[in-house]
Order: sequence, then C-alpha cells, then structure tokens
Amino acid sequence: MEAPSAPAHRGLSLWKELLLAVSLLSFWSPPTTARLTVESINAAEGEDVLLLAHSLPENLVSYSWYRGERVDSKHQIASYIITLGRILPGPAHSGRETIYSNGALLFQKVTLNDTGYYTVHTVRKDLQTEEATGQLRVYISLLTFWSPPSTARLTVASVNAAEGKGALLLVLNLPENPAGYSWFRGESVDSSRGIGAFLIEPTQKFTPGPAHSGRETIYPNGSLLFQKVALNDTGHYTIVVTKKDFLTEKATGQLTVYRK
Ligand SMILES: *[C@@H]1O[C@H](CO)[C@@H](O)[C@H](O)[C@H]1NC(C)=O
Ligand SMILES: *[C@@H]1O[C@H](CO)[C@@H](O)[C@H](O)[C@H]1NC(C)=O
Ligand SMILES: *[C@@H]1O[C@H](CO)[C@@H](O)[C@H](O)[C@H]1NC(C)=O
Repeated sequence: MEAPSAPAHRGLSLWKELLLAVSLLSFWSPPTTARLTVESINAAEGEDVLLLAHSLPENLVSYSWYRGERVDSKHQIASYIITLGRILPGPAHSGRETIYSNGALLFQKVTLNDTGYYTVHTVRKDLQTEEATGQLRVYISLLTFWSPPSTARLTVASVNAAEGKGALLLVLNLPENPAGYSWFRGESVDSSRGIGAFLIEPTQKFTPGPAHSGRETIYPNGSLLFQKVALNDTGHYTIVVTKKDFLTEKATGQLTVYRK
C-alpha cells in the first residue's frame, strides 16, 4: 500500500499501473482491432511473392491494392468486392497479380521494376476506411545467371484465418512438370500425419491420408484448401512435390487460426 506522504513514489506506481494496463490491453485486444499493416518483403527476380495485409478490419465491403504510397485510382492494381465475391482489375494490373479473400496480393514472377511501395485500402460496411503501405524489394538473383528463374525456391505462404472460415495454403514457385504432391501436418514428412496425396498423371487423383479430416482439398496447383478451420488446425503444414524425374522438393508453411 502507498504511504500518503510519498507523492513521488505514488506517481511512479501510477505510471507503472498505466504501463501494465497498456501492455495488458495490447496483449488482450483481438487481432482485428490492431492497426492494419502490410508486411514488407524482399524477393529474388522471377520468384512468386505474396504481399500480406495483417489485421484486416472486420465487416469489410472491399479492399483494393495500389502501386505506390497513395490511394490513386490511376495506380489501382485490383479490388476485391467482398459482398459480391468479385475481383475487379485496375489500370495498374500487369496480368501477374491475384488478390485473395484474406487481403493478400500474389505477384507471379516478379521483375526488378516491381520494386516499390504498395498500398492496401479497405472499406468497411460503415464506410470507414483504412490504408497501409508496405515495400517490395526485388533483387537480382545470382542464380538467374546460371539457372532459369523457374528454379526459385518452393514456398508455402503462411496464412491467418478466422475460426470457421476457409483457409488456403498457397504454394509458390512450383517446379515445372510436377508429377504429384503430398501434404503433411507438422514440419516433417511423417506418413502417419499425411493429409493426402494428389497425383497429376496419368489422371488427376486425390487419395486422402490418415490425417485427412474431411475438410481438406488439394488443388491441381498444389495449394491446400481447408474448409471451416478450427483453432486446433493451427500449426505447420508441409508439402512434398514429386517431379517427373522422381526428385522431390519440400516446403513448410504455417496456418494460424484465431478466435472469431
Ligand atoms: C517492367 O519490366 C517489364 C520487363 O521486364 C516491362 O515489360 C514492363 O513494361 C516494365 N514495367 C514498368 C512499369 O516499367
Ligand atoms: C491454385 O488454385 C486455386 C484454386 O483454383 C487458386 O485459388 C489459387 O490462386 C492457385 N494458386 C496459385 C499460386 O496460383
Ligand atoms: C479440433 O477441434 C474440433 C472442434 O473445434 C474437434 O471436433 C476435433 O476433434 C479437434 N481435433 C483434434 C485433433 O483435437
């Protein structure tokens, strides 16, 4: 308890309480009330890159991506009208960008001149807007001197999803001519935790594994779709891509499910 004759001390303890309250608040506030941000990213020329928007507000009507640090319709890449489920490309769309329902923007095969700032602009049902800018830096890969850019590293883009919603674990930089894919729960290739395998040739065929919950689908491009994610789906997921020459490549990404 505070001694009444110690005002300086009391001030200090109030300050401590305030700090504690602030840190508790920032700890407890759900991710949706955090400020919208765009994660800056470095990538080698020729890679596929995902620009992620974090802490998207709730009750969104639409979001749009722009080249540059400002919202300027001349530099609009694409908009996603959530209420209609429609994507509208803008004047700055190069044909290589895809916008996803979680707000992410996928660039396929980035070039050096994709380097720059990108801004996402969100509109809520109550017409409140928010925007955030991130930076994409594309560098010359030394690899491009002796191997084609298609050898960019296989990557699984990590994703956040609200409980009960769908989630897509995107596979970027697939090798050419894959023969099939298999997906595993966890960071290692453990057949008892196999979700399923997708064979491309001779005919496209999906075979579920022991860890298939009935909610996972593997697409012909390797991406893994979850329907109605649960909190306990949070974790790492690993893909193994088998190529026609029977060599394999593997990559791991993370799914984080948050409470709605
Ligand atoms: C970026 O470079 C590509 C070729 O590498 C070219 O086709 C495109 O027009 C360039 N874009 C801009 C905005 O300069
Ligand atoms: C893979 O296919 C799914 C379903 O058609 C699509 O939503 C996704 O964008 C594709 N992934 C890539 C990296 O193109
Ligand atoms: C995960 O949670 C769901 C309910 O949200 C439950 O039905 C399921 O059995 C759980 N799975 C595991 C592996 O614990």
